Amino acid sequence: MGTGTSYAIQNKLGEGMCGEVYKAWDKNSRTSWAIKTLKRSNFNSLKELKNEAMKEIDALLKVKHHENVVNLKEYFQKGKHFCLVMELCRGGTLNDFILQRPKDMVNNLNFMKQLSSGVSFLHGQGVVHRDLKPDNILIEFNHLGDAVVKISDFGLAKVFIQTFNPSAQEKCISRKYMKTCCGTPFFQAPETQNFHYTHKADVFSLGAIFASMMLKQRVQINTSQVGVKRDLLVVCMGNLTIADYEIFFNMDYVLPSDLWINPHLVLLLNSLLRKDYHERPGAEQLRCAMERMTNKDVETDIWRELARRNEELEEKTIKKERKREKKLQRLNKCKKCTIL
Ligand SMILES: Nc1ncnc2c1ncn2[C@@H]1O[C@H](COP(=O)(O)OP(=O)(O)O)[C@@H](O)[C@H]1O
Ligand SMILES: [Mg+2]
Repeated sequence: MGTGTSYAIQNKLGEGMCGEVYKAWDKNSRTSWAIKTLKRSNFNSLKELKNEAMKEIDALLKVKHHENVVNLKEYFQKGKHFCLVMELCRGGTLNDFILQRPKDMVNNLNFMKQLSSGVSFLHGQGVVHRDLKPDNILIEFNHLGDAVVKISDFGLAKVFIQTFNPSAQEKCISRKYMKTCCGTPFFQAPETQNFHYTHKADVFSLGAIFASMMLKQRVQINTSQVGVKRDLLVVCMGNLTIADYEIFFNMDYVLPSDLWINPHLVLLLNSLLRKDYHERPGAEQLRCAMERMTNKDVETDIWRELARRNEELEEKTIKKERKREKKLQRLNKCKKCTIL
């Protein structure tokens, strides 16, 4: 545990249910970092605050050194505050990044690949995030200026003692059940509400995040500041979230047919959102399938044109079929006439 004496706090970067996050300058490393301070007001005692902080720290320590997972530098306690020093993500949250830019399918595919890789790594390490959503995914830029997504906020993560080798990941981790209902509406798997779920709850959340990026629907929500609203990237059907929809109608959510991307990619995305978690792929399986996708698979002009040609072809075939039937009918009539 560090002492925290070398940091100079600068501006506030954001806040969530549990913590406030500040940009800080470290005079030792001469670099800027993000410091998350857990709010004492959210916990009954200092002991509880410390316990919760240690859970988040344990998870972060277990998933260090993956490009798509936020890196924890150190942590320290300052009076009644528990502080986590993390790499600074200059591009803000995925929520704001997507909403503030025009829809870009190639970028979406790139982010989907990175997130699949990140979650596959988490599950391989025996860590289930349990609160994947666009506000908990951050953006940093690499030395080329390309956006890199970072999975963040491990406050609700479940850490299993064993680490899992990625190829055996499915077999090992799928036998681990969890029962604490956690997550956030719009991105939370339906089975979490039955208090009996597995790591596949993260796969559902990924599906909901991917769908929200593709559709770019938004709702306005109130923030903690009275009178201030903000836009939230979601997938909703009227007042229903995907999970509500699946529970109420007992039907799997399927993406709209006019996305104009490779139908195989649509099938893959839909499979993440299956109500029955046994039918969802594992994160490693998803990572492999995503890796095979290329920019061509999301070039909407190609897929729209292909769909148009298919439609034309179908129409032509139907017309031909009708002509053939009519001819047959005429022939049959003639046959009957000659027999008579
Ligand atoms: N490493 C970081 N770099 C930049 N901003 C961050 C970082 N970590 C968190 N934030 C900002 O702070 C917000 C809240 O952080 P989060 O860890 O999600 O807290 P909570 O557990 O309270 O939800 C994020 O949505 C984001 O805006
Ligand atoms: Mg959060």
